[in-house]
Amino acid sequence: MAPIKIGIIGGTGMADPKILKNQTEKKVDTLFGLPSDSLLIGEIEGVPCVVLARHGRKHTIMPSNVNYRANIWALKEEGCTHIIATTATGSLQEAIKPGDIVVLDSFIDRTLKREQTFYDGKPGHPKGICHLSVEPSFCEETRKAIIESAKKIGMDVHTEGTVVVIEGPRFSTKAESMVYKSWGGHVITMTPVPEVILAKEAGICYASIALVTDYDVWRSTGETVNAHEVIKTFHANIDKVKSLILASVKTVAEKDWDQTIKQLKESVQSSVIGADV
Ligand code: ADE
Repeated sequence: MAPIKIGIIGGTGMADPKILKNQTEKKVDTLFGLPSDSLLIGEIEGVPCVVLARHGRKHTIMPSNVNYRANIWALKEEGCTHIIATTATGSLQEAIKPGDIVVLDSFIDRTLKREQTFYDGKPGHPKGICHLSVEPSFCEETRKAIIESAKKIGMDVHTEGTVVVIEGPRFSTKAESMVYKSWGGHVITMTPVPEVILAKEAGICYASIALVTDYDVWRSTGETVNAHEVIKTFHANIDKVKSLILASVKTVAEKDWDQTIKQLKESVQSSVIGADV
């Protein structure tokens, strides 16, 4: 059983030295530029983990400007086999309420200006063109581990959910929100794409814990989305997210991932064409 290491992206609260023990801060540079912040390296429940603040620790980087490639590449170089990401989301379904958690299983990409591949033909970057299958995009085994962990700690979660990923930084109009709902989206946010795609290209098992902070704007209540309220609701539920991450880290560490990682890496290799020319 090969050792595992878990990257935690987003992870507000996980950098607490009481959770991330034996913590060291490592500034890194990558083939794709600088990640959003230093890597915080340590152990959670005795499991090697690396915490990275997606928007920077002072939350100064907007979704379009996050260097997703550098973030994923930095975690890959640090030896992460898994990534558990967290994201604040708006709900597109009445039954998915603020405060709920959704373990995402698919996405609808409405982003407009983000690098989605490491294989971009530039000197020094991985060679070839990668036509990656993103079905499934989120790692099914890691999702199962999170769902199993939620059960263990008696937490109700939505075990599936399609996330609509918009470019932002603005929120949606009611017309847009109703379209996304009619497409079958369950929640909406601004960051899982291209993170999940790049993690797959990098051969890392990636899953995302989406915390619902609002109902977006499709309802007839006239409510709007407010960034301060989103952050407030996220922080009000942070302990829930933290306990699910803690339990998930333990569950992931108990499993044998050799086969899953081998298959993932083979599927990426077979997606790359023209690497030898
Ligand atoms: N993040 C949290 N709530 C959101 C919403 N309603 N739309 C987009 N991103 C969000």
